[in-house]
Amino acid sequence: MQGHLARRVSSARNSVIAHRCLYQVARKEASLQENDVSVPKMPPFDYSPPPYNGPSADEILAKRREYLSPSVFHFYKKPLNVVDGKRQYLFDEEGRRYVDAFGGIATVCCGHCHPDVVEAIVNQTKRLQHSTVLYLNSAIADFAEALASKLPGDLKVVFFTNSGTEANELAMLIARLYTGCHDIISLRNGYHGNASATMGATGQSIWKHNVVQSGVHHALNPDPYRGVFGPDGEKYAKDVQDLIDFGTSGNVAAFVSEAIQGVGGIIELAPGYLPAVYSTIKKAGGLCIADEVQAGFGRTGSHFWGFETQGVVPDIVTMAKGIGNGIPLGAVVTTPEIAEVLTRRNYFNTFGGNPVCTAAGLAVLKVIEKENLKENAHIVGSYLKDRLAALKDRYELIGDVRGRGLMLGVELVTDRQTKTPAKAETLHVMDEMKELGVLIGKGGYFGNVFRITPPLCFTKEDADYLVDSMDYVMSKM
Ligand SMILES: Cc1ncc(COP(=O)(O)O)c(C=O)c1O
Repeated sequence: MQGHLARRVSSARNSVIAHRCLYQVARKEASLQENDVSVPKMPPFDYSPPPYNGPSADEILAKRREYLSPSVFHFYKKPLNVVDGKRQYLFDEEGRRYVDAFGGIATVCCGHCHPDVVEAIVNQTKRLQHSTVLYLNSAIADFAEALASKLPGDLKVVFFTNSGTEANELAMLIARLYTGCHDIISLRNGYHGNASATMGATGQSIWKHNVVQSGVHHALNPDPYRGVFGPDGEKYAKDVQDLIDFGTSGNVAAFVSEAIQGVGGIIELAPGYLPAVYSTIKKAGGLCIADEVQAGFGRTGSHFWGFETQGVVPDIVTMAKGIGNGIPLGAVVTTPEIAEVLTRRNYFNTFGGNPVCTAAGLAVLKVIEKENLKENAHIVGSYLKDRLAALKDRYELIGDVRGRGLMLGVELVTDRQTKTPAKAETLHVMDEMKELGVLIGKGGYFGNVFRITPPLCFTKEDADYLVDSMDYVMSKM
């Protein structure tokens, strides 16, 4: 009883502290704005999260250091403890609001805690959560049907998984079974996951060293900014033919790639690359796998899927992340003929496509349609890209602005001629933007590319705030 009372008193005290902190933050923001007119103003948003009574960032960090794998990393010198989220905004332990310009691909495509998605999850959880296998349930079938309707051609058989890694592992397994071949070709700067086959297929973009897998070959990256052939996609494609000629028996199981590399630093494959490679792979009897884990679900604005930007139709499409707006879910979609190969094995996945996750997935698709999020990604993304490009004209530090829709990259270099990666500057700008209330991601082989991939409900006002903040930080460097 006494413990209960103590908890209530402590909770009330924490709530007062939280409100005081909010006030102090507001005062600090206001005084900054009074003193320096060029400090950008965050767009208004009519929501205050409930007071937070949990452990502080320092306490969490200490626990993480003691109990979590040392491989778990975080952004920022002083990492953020995010405790609430609403649409394109996050809130820290003191109730301070941040524009989340990265979380869109990390998890939420249609905004944090979208009420329709939350409702679908809660309703299904109250009714039933169970394994995918053994019995029937309409959630999985309804979502599979809705997902298939978004894909071109004969791509209409869906296997559900729990993550993007699992989806890509399964896609490669299917290709190997279907073709009877072992060899897989992927791109040097791609990222496909963190289990053995996907790590093998992942180039050096994140591991920095090759995780060797027999039969996996990494092709030249068709990177228009840093690649040897510039924007000429067909020239890079020739390397895939060379790998087949000199590295395999002449046949391959599959070619796997993203259309826009995410972890690799928002690299749109050079135009013409995918049509040329897909034709080479088909001639070698292989299947083409499109990894849509980041670029899918309308993020590119111009198209629903990234591969459509190059006018190709893959044999297998993999997806995850935004598909469930934060719920662990992935999927592999292929043709009935290819899907048939898994009947030769007893393939099942305990939770892949469980009723709660697929209810979330269906709700996400409906929100994308209802709120015209693909169109929004196009309009706001084009506006944001133009503004970033204008910033590039003012700061030598910006070597390249690229991407499409709400999947944009800004590469920082210390010298535009040599393209020397500006790693320290990248970290500095990120940290300072966080102080102003803007969260962006980072990636690329050298860790010098800002990844700007907000939830698809991002607005032009958010875009202005982001660019003005970047401008402000760079102007002080
Ligand atoms: C393109 C791509 N494929 C696959 C994956 C792996 O997905 P997951 O982390 O859900 O296993 C990722 C994760 O970042 C990714 O970006």
